[in-house]
Amino acid sequence: MFKMQPIGFVRSSYSETAQIPKGCGAKHEAEGVLDILPEFEQGLTDIEGFSHLFVIWTFHQAEGYSLLGKPPTDDRPHGVFATRSPRRPNPIGLTVVEMIRREGTRLYVRGIDMLDGTPILDIKPYLSSVPAEKLKRGWLAEAEARQKD
Ligand SMILES: C[S@@+](CC[C@H](N)C(=O)[O-])C[C@H]1O[C@@H](n2cnc3c(N)ncnc32)[C@H](O)[C@@H]1O
Repeated sequence: MFKMQPIGFVRSSYSETAQIPKGCGAKHEAEGVLDILPEFEQGLTDIEGFSHLFVIWTFHQAEGYSLLGKPPTDDRPHGVFATRSPRRPNPIGLTVVEMIRREGTRLYVRGIDMLDGTPILDIKPYLSSVPAEKLKRGWLAEAEARQKD
């Protein structure tokens, strides 16, 4: 099996999941802090030059999982691996955030959708090489189109 430890914790204004915007058109512009543990500070060397970061974290408040479920963006069920549901076999979250600034072990970022105290597993620079015209949004595009009708 795997052994992981948090490299830090999210500091956000969200104490309950109900406070986090959900559904079609939800905007994630909340600011927060990625508070990295001092023993990992050296790993932040040169991170300031990246405008956006991938944050990999755990849905530490989620319980169990459902392989099929209705996301808030649709009234039809979809497989868990075709959604961003917190209730997944391995409760791993992935969020792209915009870097505002770094102060030592604290990364001030925009785009937080995690609860305060969420354990962070990893951070990587965001680099996308997929051209926008090649991206397909699957069932989500269909659900958005139905909601506009
Ligand atoms: C739909 S998920 C998407 C998260 C991430 N962007 C992803 O794609 O993996 C976001 C929701 O997860 C829930 N959530 C956030 N932090 C959590 C945590 N630490 N434990 C359990 N649920 C959490 C909230 O309900 C939030 O609205």
